[in-house]
Amino acid sequence: MADFRDTLILPFEKGILPFPKEGENWLILNADTLPLTEPALCDLVQCEQGFRSSYLALKAAGYEVAARQPTGAALDGCLVLASRTRAVNEGNLVRAWNDLKPGGVLVFAGDKTSGVQPLRKWLSQRVGTLESLSKHHAVAFWAVRESNEEDIEYEAPETRQGDFYVSPGMFSARGPDVGSLLLAEQFDKRLFGRVADFGAGWGFLSSMMLDRCDQIEKLELYEADWESLQAAEANVGERGTYHWCDLTTEAPRGPFNWIVMNPPFHSGRAATPDLGRSFIEAAARALPSGGRLLMVANTNLPYENTLNGLFKKVERKAQAKGFKVIEATKGSR
Ligand SMILES: C[S@@+](CC[C@H](N)C(=O)[O-])C[C@H]1O[C@@H](n2cnc3c(N)ncnc32)[C@H](O)[C@@H]1O
Repeated sequence: MADFRDTLILPFEKGILPFPKEGENWLILNADTLPLTEPALCDLVQCEQGFRSSYLALKAAGYEVAARQPTGAALDGCLVLASRTRAVNEGNLVRAWNDLKPGGVLVFAGDKTSGVQPLRKWLSQRVGTLESLSKHHAVAFWAVRESNEEDIEYEAPETRQGDFYVSPGMFSARGPDVGSLLLAEQFDKRLFGRVADFGAGWGFLSSMMLDRCDQIEKLELYEADWESLQAAEANVGERGTYHWCDLTTEAPRGPFNWIVMNPPFHSGRAATPDLGRSFIEAAARALPSGGRLLMVANTNLPYENTLNGLFKKVERKAQAKGFKVIEATKGSR
């Protein structure tokens, strides 16, 4: 994550805002581990973090964290770290403000790429006085909720795409991805038995598999993003089983007959083929001899070396619109 965490704690370090006190109710939305302060914030705040790897990092650092914290908590303070999606940031600002008790403080931090200035303007049109400071190429702004200030009225964005439940911030929130559509063209009766969807998102590939592959007995969805997994559950229903899992560090419980995936290749804004490679490695570990991996990737992503090192047979099944579909069969070790 871009380091606006230092900027978030600046108003506290400078003594402009008082540090949280023991017995108060503070929450961090889109939480991440924070720089060390005196007193230590990790002992004084609750965290919400739905992305599994960040959630695990918070836990390991000693924070109290949940994928989703209850709303309506009468907060003394709420700290919000910017996400990459405008609608998610707006939703978090509204939720934070509406949950503050009188005198409670909302602090937001983000950088240029998270659109912090337009968000500051957006909030200033809805609440009283906003203050801000900038440092480390980032901005923190904050507002204290006076007792006469109202909740912000906010119409949350549409959460349906045709037949599917989807929210802003999820992968392909505006409808199925071109690569995933190309991959789904390969779904047929060959997919059988126990099948896993790695990085299942809101469940597009799983839904397509259940429509097109009647030999599937058990379908297991693995996804790091909690909200996406909830959407997948709503979209795919009881025929799937759902695992909130960081596939780069947590081993799925195979063995599977088939694994299907459109692996992530971005961490934040940076393209990182390493993420896709660790998905391929996780798939190779969870497939027995004869098990198959069916995946799609941008044609320019160099996954073949990794696949050839781990699988007996690697075949390109389709290529179109900048994507390639690859099927790889596991040999005996
Ligand atoms: C390219 S999207 C594909 C989503 C969905 N399968 C589809 O085709 O529409 C990759 C998915 O992997 C998830 N993801 C990213 N890192 C992950 C990780 N370490 N473990 C599990 N899932 C992860 C992302 O949240 C995202 O939903």
